[in-house]
Amino acid sequence: MIKLKSTREIEMMREAGRIVAAVLLELERLIVAGVTTGALDRMAEKMIRRAGGEPAFLGYHNYPASICTSINEEVVHGIPGLRKLKEGDIISIDVGVRLKGYYGDAAATFGVGAVGPGAQRLMDVARRSLDQAIAAMRQGAHLSDISHAVQAYVEMNSFAVVRNFVGHGIGTEMHEEPQVPNFGPPGRGPVLQPGIVLAIEPMVNAGGWEVEVLKDHWTVVTKDGSLSAHFEHTVALGDNGPEVLTIL
Ligand code: MF3
Ligand code: CO
Repeated sequence: MIKLKSTREIEMMREAGRIVAAVLLELERLIVAGVTTGALDRMAEKMIRRAGGEPAFLGYHNYPASICTSINEEVVHGIPGLRKLKEGDIISIDVGVRLKGYYGDAAATFGVGAVGPGAQRLMDVARRSLDQAIAAMRQGAHLSDISHAVQAYVEMNSFAVVRNFVGHGIGTEMHEEPQVPNFGPPGRGPVLQPGIVLAIEPMVNAGGWEVEVLKDHWTVVTKDGSLSAHFEHTVALGDNGPEVLTIL
């Protein structure tokens, strides 16, 4: 069942989303060669708690950190630690916050210093595929119109979308119905109504769409070792169209 949110609930989610956005913005500033992913994690946790929130990922299915840091061929769910960022790396940072019982969830991929043209194009296409998805989130559209918008844009640009991980409804739980795949034919699934809130999160690979999970049981990597980029926003559908909640 999809739980539609009231105006009041969306107001709360806006607050959670604002913290997520502030953390991502601050972390972007800290991304330089030599910094460890663990340092980014500690900074994120401190900021989230100072803002009165809780890190949503910490302890989720025993996940050991407050953010996910996924570098280069890592797709999602990379665990922060002692690894140092290198010039030319790309890193996806995923942040989740719980505030007053409501969740916000967003991710973005950043370059460390100057990155190669292929990596830059991958990040640009992945970011724009999220823009396309948000634009497809209109009253009266079907859920899979969002999925199709991502896939069409990504494949038009000769990249591939990950199939095994999907976006999700979000609200009083981090993961609610419905699942939001990043691929599929248009015109399927529930009709979108005001009050639906979705975490839309395209994962885009430079090579094939196939992924595997490392022995740490979390880190998802591309099977062919190609680069991957990931962007996510929590988006509410209001009477006047989609509203991104994970912005300042
Ligand atoms: N944004 C991701 C998701 O929606 C991150 C959660 S994974 C976690 O699933 F384990 F780190 F929480
Ligand atoms: Co998510």
